[in-house]
Amino acid sequence: MTAAAPAGLALPTPLPTPPPPAPVIELVGGRKTYQTGSLSFEALRGVDLRVEAGEYVAVIGPSGSGKSTLMHVLGCLDVLTSGTYRLTGHDVGELDEVDLAAVRNTQIGFVFQQFHLLTSLSAVQNVELPLVYRGLGRAERRALAVEALERVGLGDRLENRPGQLSGGQQQRVAFARALVGGPAMILADEPTGNLDSTSTEEVLGLLDALHAAGRTILLITHEAEVAARAARVVRVLDGLIQEDAR
Ligand SMILES: Nc1ncnc2c1ncn2[C@@H]1O[C@H](COP(=O)(O)OP(=O)(O)OP(=O)(O)O)[C@@H](O)[C@H]1O
Ligand SMILES: [Mg+2]
Repeated sequence: MTAAAPAGLALPTPLPTPPPPAPVIELVGGRKTYQTGSLSFEALRGVDLRVEAGEYVAVIGPSGSGKSTLMHVLGCLDVLTSGTYRLTGHDVGELDEVDLAAVRNTQIGFVFQQFHLLTSLSAVQNVELPLVYRGLGRAERRALAVEALERVGLGDRLENRPGQLSGGQQQRVAFARALVGGPAMILADEPTGNLDSTSTEEVLGLLDALHAAGRTILLITHEAEVAARAARVVRVLDGLIQEDAR
């Protein structure tokens, strides 16, 4: 019970409790239908997924189950046919192409199976690229890129071109490029798919470290032993998802 304030004496106003942060991903009833000529195919058939900031989630499922479709939707590379997708609380369905591109550039760090590095540029130039569209000065871009490469353990390989790096190192450059803009989440589609076991371990170790540092990570993989490294596993089957019991 609160005691009444004596007349003339104002009680301090309690600070309002800040609202809990919105989940990074909130997908509700997500459906995606592909239309090929007169044929339509429902690749996502009503998917709910909620991922909080700092979670490390693996998405696993057989070929053709809808993993890449899900990743394209979550990465704002494609939009749902119906249902709602909120990214850090913002309804993505309401955005036009220009806004979607801005969201992709600032909120999501992509990593793919093929590293997609520009072979004529050095590691640090590759990592600087996403910052070019941010209106940052040259020196600031360079400093952020160097910091990102140091974070992935490649501070001594700044000037190497991709061809002068191992597969695991190239994928780490790709992770540095994904991280450099401070995205809300890292979206990695089969990041170890092209790597030998040593480089796979190198990349999985990096993911562990990023998770420990509080990053939000969504990892799409075919491989059960890769998925087992994540704290949470979501299984996609025939366009539906189910959580693995822990
Ligand atoms: N652009 C498209 N047009 C028509 N059908 C498509 C298109 N993209 C995907 N599909 C179909 O949607 C289903 C899901 O495809 P998706 O690429 O999401 O699967 P996946 O789980 O990523 O498979 P994989 O493990 O082989 O990469 C498949 O049956 C596929 O043939
Ligand atoms: Mg796929």
